[in-house]
Amino acid sequence: MQLRHRKCIPPLVFASTFALLLLFFTTYYHFHGIPFLSSRHVPVVDDSFHFVEHQLRPIPVSTLPSPPRFAYLVSGSAGNGNMLRRVLLAIYHPLNQYIVHLDRKASPQERLALERFVKGYKVFKEVGNVRMIVKANLITYRGSTMVANTLHAAAILLREGGDWDWFINLSASDYPLVTQDDLLHTFSHIPRDLNFIDHTSKIGWKASQRAKPVIIDSGLYNLRRADVFWIRQKRSVPTAFKLFTGSAWMVLSRPFIEYCVWGWDNLPRKVLMYYTNFLSSPEGYFHTVICNAEAFRNTTVNSDLHFISWDNPPRQHPQLLRLAHMNRMLESNAPFARKFYQNGRLLDKIDAELLSRGREMFTPGGWCAGSRENGADPCSVVGTPTVLKPGPGAQRLQALINFLLSDAIFRPRQCE
Ligand SMILES: *[C@@H]1O[C@H](CO)[C@@H](O)[C@H](O)[C@H]1NC(C)=O
Ligand SMILES: *[C@@H]1O[C@H](CO)[C@@H](O)[C@H](O)[C@H]1NC(C)=O
Repeated sequence: MQLRHRKCIPPLVFASTFALLLLFFTTYYHFHGIPFLSSRHVPVVDDSFHFVEHQLRPIPVSTLPSPPRFAYLVSGSAGNGNMLRRVLLAIYHPLNQYIVHLDRKASPQERLALERFVKGYKVFKEVGNVRMIVKANLITYRGSTMVANTLHAAAILLREGGDWDWFINLSASDYPLVTQDDLLHTFSHIPRDLNFIDHTSKIGWKASQRAKPVIIDSGLYNLRRADVFWIRQKRSVPTAFKLFTGSAWMVLSRPFIEYCVWGWDNLPRKVLMYYTNFLSSPEGYFHTVICNAEAFRNTTVNSDLHFISWDNPPRQHPQLLRLAHMNRMLESNAPFARKFYQNGRLLDKIDAELLSRGREMFTPGGWCAGSRENGADPCSVVGTPTVLKPGPGAQRLQALINFLLSDAIFRPRQCE
């Protein structure tokens, strides 16, 4: 609803007031209990509605935009089948799109079991928003085949996934700390062209350890064995573009994904070819493209929206999270965390306390229209997907977003 027109005649004011109050009462039950947290991007209600606005303060319905949609890639390797299934149920929402990938190291049996789950699950079939890359890719953890797989999934999502707003890349050892209702509600209020990507141009030791060595990822051309090997020759640090590095986890806008996949500009393609021979390319490809593209650098928010706990000094892999991390994890206000033990006690605690999720069930949300009788999953019946019931997770996430978009943080940290 647009309330920005200044020249209102009195009857219109009364009619609008009445309509707003009506809207307020009908919407109230979808958002009960959640004090609305203002974000600086929410359009402000016009002065002439001062009185109305005052009454509506707890729930300004006039500023409720339609919820966005996320497109998720959830990928794993041998032995991750069950965990992929758990992550998928935990992050499922009918508004979103999902693509599941189990790489070629997994056995055919494991892949078939996951495929049966994805294709056979009642809700997935009804809504039709979960797909699996059946012709699995061979992936080298630190090689270019990882970026190729991410771009492959993004391309499928662009072609088949309908209208979505952000692409999110997760693995089987990631897990959400908020519900999808929390995430969709909070992201309704932020500009859809923002890209959440942790990055820096201070590449430090990576100049000699990553930028100069030249590697080959044999997964690009071998049928079975994928590995990286080094060639003796070294190369110099690029001068045609500036290198950026950061976390391999990100939330990317649709316009930026289209820019990377469609290739009407040569930069994403050139940088991709450069990163083919770069060790740990997932920690640099999108970062370097986005910060060297004039049209996109102003859309970066310097965060991967993940809680990750590193050793001091950091080792190659982050710490596996334990119950003792729970408080720090919550205080980070991050919507996702990693890395988790498969089926550890911490995941059960997150299910119980943060997601209200029963074993083998979906994370409940406003879309769930079934009953809980006899331990049934209320989400086995799909109601109205646009009805969101954000909870405490939305408040935590909003606090993080407010911080990231504050004047002191947002612009000063872009592509520095
Ligand atoms: C995407 O997700 C996977 C987790 O499976 C991660 O390892 C990878 O590096 C991510 N990022 C990119 C840019 O491919
Ligand atoms: C990005 O921001 C800078 C600094 O505020 C500005 O000069 C530039 O025009 C902006 N670029 C685009 C494409 O909006």
